[in-house]
Amino acid sequence: MLTIEERSEIEKKMDDYPDRQALSIEAMLIVQRRRGWISSESLHDLSELLGLSIANLDGVATFYNLIRRKPVGRHVALLCDSVSCWIMGCDRVRDRLCSSLNTPLGGTTADGRFTLLPIVCLGACDHAPAMMIDGTLHEDLDELRINEVLAQYE
Ligand code: FES
Repeated sequence: MLTIEERSEIEKKMDDYPDRQALSIEAMLIVQRRRGWISSESLHDLSELLGLSIANLDGVATFYNLIRRKPVGRHVALLCDSVSCWIMGCDRVRDRLCSSLNTPLGGTTADGRFTLLPIVCLGACDHAPAMMIDGTLHEDLDELRINEVLAQYE
């Protein structure tokens, strides 16, 4: 069930998005910010609130790569693997991340601390390789700095 706060925040956005379809991504992001991901139960509740079918919302969630349909760790690290970051060595950064966290790309650490996901360009190409953790951008990464960056997150 959506919380009162989630429902209220979504309802406040309704004036900005007269088309419920256009509101669907924002509504899912509101729920995701509080829960980390969009469960089938959340999708059902949003479907009722927005008057859109579950299949419709699921299609949007599946297409839009910032909506997560599976549980994630306390922190979500999004590692860019687009061309500038690839040229500047994101493979080495990825390998160090996976080794330090002991999880593959796409996985969650055993202690639930981190989920590590690939993402397309973060818009920081002039400071590649780049990674975003919980909305904070980390630029000019190299494998030697990874542990220092990870240590900022409990
Ligand atoms: Fe990685 Fe643009 S290619 S931030």
